[in-house]
Amino acid sequence: MTHDAIGFGTWPFQGDDAERAVATAVEAGYRLIDTATKYGNEAAVGRGLRASGVDLRELRIQTKLRGDDHGDVRGALGRSLEALGVDALDAWLIHWPLPMLGRYPEAWAEMVRLREEGLVREIGVSNFLPEHLDALERATGVRPAVNQIQCDPTIARGGLRDELRARGIGVQAWSPLGRGGEVLRAEPVLRIAAARGLTPAEVVLAWHGTLGIVPIARSADAARQRQNLAAVALRLDADELAVLAGLPQRGLGDFDPRLRDER
Ligand SMILES: NC(=O)c1ccc[n+]([C@@H]2O[C@H](COP(=O)([O-])OP(=O)(O)OC[C@H]3O[C@@H](n4cnc5c(N)ncnc54)[C@H](OP(=O)(O)O)[C@@H]3O)[C@@H](O)[C@H]2O)c1
Repeated sequence: MTHDAIGFGTWPFQGDDAERAVATAVEAGYRLIDTATKYGNEAAVGRGLRASGVDLRELRIQTKLRGDDHGDVRGALGRSLEALGVDALDAWLIHWPLPMLGRYPEAWAEMVRLREEGLVREIGVSNFLPEHLDALERATGVRPAVNQIQCDPTIARGGLRDELRARGIGVQAWSPLGRGGEVLRAEPVLRIAAARGLTPAEVVLAWHGTLGIVPIARSADAARQRQNLAAVALRLDADELAVLAGLPQRGLGDFDPRLRDER
């Protein structure tokens, strides 16, 4: 099965583990592969992509501009292309807005130019709030193709997702399984899983798929990679969605884009 409704997450894999996980994921049918300069694994991810034997032109290779590179966007792209071993990127995202640095609008303007030069096919952002999206539009008139945000049924981000939809910006979810933590043990998730004969992870990925969110899911295990790939095509009904909408919501905590200083 091949999908563009789900992406494969590669943080925190390193070295051979990263290479192996990426190769099995691509063999299983993942086509969107997500990495970031900050993860320090672009070269290993590149090796995994080539080890899969799948034509790179069939894949959607996505990496991210780190905070330390907001002032050297062109140099950063060159380094990412070299590490990944590709001539152009399919998608390149600003990893965090870093408003305390204040350079993301100029970084975005440079990314727009690099896209025009054909070195990047699609440009987007991660962890952006409406105020940050407004600043990009004021600087360039260009909206991101996608915003990758933290999202799972316990941090559903409904207001932000509605805003992104209204602006025509695609939604990707990072930590879509809540890092394998509490969301997979939440009572309503377990109840739906039991009733449907699914695993909790399948229920959570079905939630993403039903709401049109593209989860960037990570697993080191080939069987769980396949399970996750298939699960995103499952659909929850209105009652199941309503049950999950009743889950207590957690806050952004350390991942508030207005405060997070991750370079
Ligand atoms: N843009 C950003 O700022 C940002 C921030 C964080 C992450 N990300 C991206 O998002 C990706 C995913 O997020 P994440 O890595 O934090 O966590 P995640 O995908 O929500 O969860 C991964 C955890 O869930 C487990 N898991 C996966 N499939 C499972 C299944 N079917 N059943 C049970 N457990 C399962 C994995 O264990 P096993 O490996 O043992 O299966 C792993 O411990 C990252 O890899 C990265 O690419 C982006």
